[in-house]
Amino acid sequence: MVQLFAPSDSPPAAPESSEQPIGFVIGRSSPQSFVFVSDEETVPPRLEYVVIHGAREQVDDTFRSVDLLAQVTGIRAEVLTLGEDLDYAEAQTVVSQNATLPPRVQAEATVLGYLQDGVVRQARMMVLPGTPVHTAPDALLRAFFSRDEASSITLGTLINRRGVDVRLDPNGLSRHLAIIAQTGAGKSYLAGKLLEDLLGLGATIVVLDPNSDYVQLRKTQADADRPYHYANKTPHADRISVLRVPGIEGRRYTDEFVGPTEDYTIRFAELDADDIADVAGVPTTASRIRDAITQSVARLRHLNVDFVPRDLAQDLADFAGVPLDEGATSPEESSDQAASGPIEPPDGDDTAASEAWLEGLQALSTDSEPPAGRPQYGGGGMPGSEDADLRRDARNALRYVRRLERYPVWGHTTVNIERLIEPMRTTIIDLAGTEKVVMAYTAEWLLSHLWERALGGRLRWPVFVVLEEAHNLVPGGGPRDQQTKASRIINTVAAEGRKFGVYLIVITQRPSKIADDTLSQCASQLIMRLTNPDDQKAVQRASEVVSQGLLSNLPGLNQGEVVTLGRLTRIPAMVKVSGRQGAEGGADRDLVQDFQAAHREATAQQAFDRGSPSGNLPRSGPKRIPL
Ligand SMILES: Nc1ncnc2c1ncn2[C@@H]1O[C@H](COP(=O)(O)OP(=O)(O)OP(=O)(O)O)[C@@H](O)[C@H]1O
Ligand SMILES: [Mg+2]
Repeated sequence: MVQLFAPSDSPPAAPESSEQPIGFVIGRSSPQSFVFVSDEETVPPRLEYVVIHGAREQVDDTFRSVDLLAQVTGIRAEVLTLGEDLDYAEAQTVVSQNATLPPRVQAEATVLGYLQDGVVRQARMMVLPGTPVHTAPDALLRAFFSRDEASSITLGTLINRRGVDVRLDPNGLSRHLAIIAQTGAGKSYLAGKLLEDLLGLGATIVVLDPNSDYVQLRKTQADADRPYHYANKTPHADRISVLRVPGIEGRRYTDEFVGPTEDYTIRFAELDADDIADVAGVPTTASRIRDAITQSVARLRHLNVDFVPRDLAQDLADFAGVPLDEGATSPEESSDQAASGPIEPPDGDDTAASEAWLEGLQALSTDSEPPAGRPQYGGGGMPGSEDADLRRDARNALRYVRRLERYPVWGHTTVNIERLIEPMRTTIIDLAGTEKVVMAYTAEWLLSHLWERALGGRLRWPVFVVLEEAHNLVPGGGPRDQQTKASRIINTVAAEGRKFGVYLIVITQRPSKIADDTLSQCASQLIMRLTNPDDQKAVQRASEVVSQGLLSNLPGLNQGEVVTLGRLTRIPAMVKVSGRQGAEGGADRDLVQDFQAAHREATAQQAFDRGSPSGNLPRSGPKRIPL
């Protein structure tokens, strides 16, 4: 079990010399921990690394002297003449009469282990009382936490030793990685840094980006606010592609800032009828509506039509014998109409509700003739209650299908998967502004295709798939029907992907809301600040190396600080993430700057109003407060 403690706010200066002991082991010690006495001047701060030089250890069959690394997990001071039982007056007397003694300073240390042929071994012997304790020199810490730079991912530096780089072993990603922290802790910043280094090493990466957090990665941090054309570029910018859903209004980063992008569309005709019903939000219980969609899809396929949502809607309208526009209102939007008539859409197979809804539509409809040039299904002319039922189902389905026209992601082509799996390429799929179902569909589409190739031995290079806000893709902790379209394939890849070269990087701020199966398959974890007890418990459930001690100290981490667990580092490290080159997309807004801009605009508007003839007229309504 790992015992780590939260960092102090300001890191101490790195001690370079370990000549003088900073203390001596006292009391009882064990292979896991020891206590040492120190003094006011030399006592190390909490989390400092200390070393026992020449500790006696059994290495294989022989006893040897090793440098045993330990971390200070607690410090305390005590003055004998100022015991806990003194009251205020007594303490004042002792202090005023200079009757205080020098403090007795003690520190507790947790043993981390020693290095043997580049591998960290756990101590099996205790440190004897009287043994001197030294501050661990940077060189020793580098041997524990750094690796060959050319073949590793540099995450940052030790929190309390800024001179010691922490480098991750890329092989630690081969059993999937989870990046977990509460919102704003620095997950996306960290992931960006990780992806930069991974790409530099030669990795193929696809990022599903629901918030445009990664679209600026090609520009340097310093040029985040410059249009792409004028910005300095990061070293591998030409190996990063950004795909965007066309036609999304009001993006946070326009193409001018992001740089060249390609359209991300999904060929609608590739979806099967169930997919269409899912993405349109048809409840799984609404089997009649789903059947209507299935039949409509079959009709279009029979006619060999490469259809988009409008074509499907038209087919349903024609079948139902109603004009297309009767389905223009989405199921949600119709709620205000519902108040004025029986037009609320059915939300299942409730026949009575559906009939009422249909009647409402018929009452409003003046023209139920299908448009010219469209197939005639008999529509309103079909006699018999069964036909009427089918028409009613088609009409109900129309409502759902028409909402799909609002998602600009559906088109006649799907992005070419060959492009995504080129060696040393990062593809950011910017899904900001689309519905969650589109994200789930994209995850399912991508992973299924990768999986199919991997199983067929047609995936030449390992592919990393980054799932941001993964709790929305593989929800857990609720009923099974909470699953998304992507749940099953994500769990399959999580369970078996490592054998076939498909690796997940799962990012979430709500570990308690993600499927346990997925999280527990992520053998490496990067955990940042986390205060919610449910989320802490979920992290502990998912990993046997997470101790209570670590959990209770996660709230003490500052923004950008992370604990590495699993096979990424030889032993868990507490790291200050740094050195990211690419600009952020989702950086916190600077409210002071926003206010200043708003203030400028309001003041300019006020001046303009005063200058204009109408601006001098007395105003009615509330009085303006001068800025
Ligand atoms: N290591 C770091 N060094 C400097 N700034 C950082 C670091 N990590 C995070 N930040 C800053 O903190 C803010 C939040 O970081 P980030 O967006 O990565 O958090 P997040 O955990 O992904 O949040 P969310 O859950 O909302 O997506 C950003 O403005 C970012 O610039
Ligand atoms: Mg984020």
